[in-house]
Amino acid sequence: MCGIVGYIGKTAVREVILKGLERLEYRGYDSAGIAVKDDDKISLVKKKGRIEELSVEDLPESTIGIGHTRWATHGKPSDKNAHPFLDCSGDISIVHNGIIDNFVSIKERLRDKGHEFNSDTDSEVIAHLIEENYRGDLVEALRSSVKELEGSYAIVAIHSEKNEIAAARNQSPLVVGVGDGENLLASDVPALLDHTQDVKYLQDGDIVRLTSGSIDIWDRTGGEVERITKTVEWSIEDAEKGGYEHYMLKEIHEQPQAIHDSILGRLKGFEDLDLKRYRIDSIRLIACGTSFHAGLVGKYIIEEISSIPCMVEMASEYRYSSRLSEYPFTILLSQSGETADTLAAAKEASLRGCKTLGITNVLDSSLTREVDEVIYTQAGPEIGVAATKTFTTQIVVLYLLAMELGLMKKTLDVDKADNYRNELRRLPRLVERILDRSDQIKELSSELASAKDIFFIGRNINYPVAMEGALKLKEIAYIHAAGYPAGELKHGPFALLTEETPVIAICIKDKTYQKMLGNIGEIAARDSPIYGVGIEDKEIQKLSDHNIYIPEVMPLFSPVVVNVALQLFSYYTAYELGREIDKPRNLAKSVTVE
Ligand code: G6P
Repeated sequence: MCGIVGYIGKTAVREVILKGLERLEYRGYDSAGIAVKDDDKISLVKKKGRIEELSVEDLPESTIGIGHTRWATHGKPSDKNAHPFLDCSGDISIVHNGIIDNFVSIKERLRDKGHEFNSDTDSEVIAHLIEENYRGDLVEALRSSVKELEGSYAIVAIHSEKNEIAAARNQSPLVVGVGDGENLLASDVPALLDHTQDVKYLQDGDIVRLTSGSIDIWDRTGGEVERITKTVEWSIEDAEKGGYEHYMLKEIHEQPQAIHDSILGRLKGFEDLDLKRYRIDSIRLIACGTSFHAGLVGKYIIEEISSIPCMVEMASEYRYSSRLSEYPFTILLSQSGETADTLAAAKEASLRGCKTLGITNVLDSSLTREVDEVIYTQAGPEIGVAATKTFTTQIVVLYLLAMELGLMKKTLDVDKADNYRNELRRLPRLVERILDRSDQIKELSSELASAKDIFFIGRNINYPVAMEGALKLKEIAYIHAAGYPAGELKHGPFALLTEETPVIAICIKDKTYQKMLGNIGEIAARDSPIYGVGIEDKEIQKLSDHNIYIPEVMPLFSPVVVNVALQLFSYYTAYELGREIDKPRNLAKSVTVE
């Protein structure tokens, strides 16, 4: 998703913006650009492709500028559609993240007034609109312009005659970096960390003016407001690769710590969360992508631990479902807290009268403002596009939440809760034991790399884990994979089984164990190579061609451990194939369009 950086201060701006854009690369992009203001003139470079391809040496030395990485929504990835955009006079330049729903009518109106447009984007109209509204005050012109915009935006603008940056935010992330003799704006914190750890999160409707020594913010009523400055604990080192070849591998290895941090201080309940205020007779979990899979695992967890009936829905589908006269407690899962479909679902749930809880990894993200209650997953920044540690910590939070609900409703007895707490405390060590088996998984992955189709199968709580395993492989190795409940394979997909279709079978000693062995036997009879993932066991050994053993774990908690093994399978398969693991083609870390 698009990334924005704005800088005003004391340092050569080209390098600052370039570095900031690099730190936002994890968001995914297809083109990039930078505009700087120097001597009452705006100079600009922009290009389809990677940031490194920008000829920044063509830009003058300056200390005011804006930069952008674009993820195409309106108009193909191309040089002309890349940001920043200029108005007709060439005095105003803007970058934009989001979607302007009414851009067609604005464009027509401005065209009638003589404006000429050079791109297919919705964003370009913003530069022209500001030009129309400009009477010598950039902030005022931006304020009048956003009044005409419908949709979502983070807009950052500069003017050739102004030593300032103006910005506006509505439903797209924008953070101010508070520096010393310099100030910044960015879509996300990593882009600011080279300069400052002090940040102000802007809110929907906010307009801001930055100079090198001041930050003025107005809310949607036009009144000046203070947004508190928060010090983020994430150091640059946190946000960098820490010695691993890819962010994804680093983040897979950070899971023991992330689990530990997510449990910390919460085993006896969540501070600041008083669920007794709500009627929670049924629960609906809503999310997209990997978070949706965490939701599916969460259904088993919540129903098993708290006995509260639970259903799971994809955010993009939920909005269009029929409104029933029931008000389930609604949990929105989103690691970024910025996924447009999930935000829209949160709004819809509130409209339907449901009480809502958001589970996210990002402090003050948009989701946190849409819901009644929030739990943070404490995974730390996740840069790799493919979600790993955020998935694991979402599941960990769901165990804790289910326990809290079970104890509150007295459907979970105290001894059982103690057992669960003990198992949660063991999880970081159990995950470490899987990480210790990386070499073995790497070796097996080299065989998987030649496959065209791979099945992941599991039953009960490990069925969604199989789905997540398949999604991860598709995302980063570009191998077609399907996650199936093991008992369903015979109802169709069997037709695809040959010696060239590997099957990764999750086989845990739970209530489905015997049935699962039967399913694996049926597959073995069709010559598909079987990779068994489960606790060391002679039965699985007999049926599988290869095995990855996971440590003994309570079946209800096995998804966390099994999933780490599957993450490593995907990572090493993608590695073997030389894929761009941290930035898979066509994907974005947070998808802010519906
Ligand atoms: C994108 C990412 C996925 C992620 C999904 C939901 O598609 O590429 O990895 O699972 O969005 O993101 P969220 O931030 O809401 O969890």
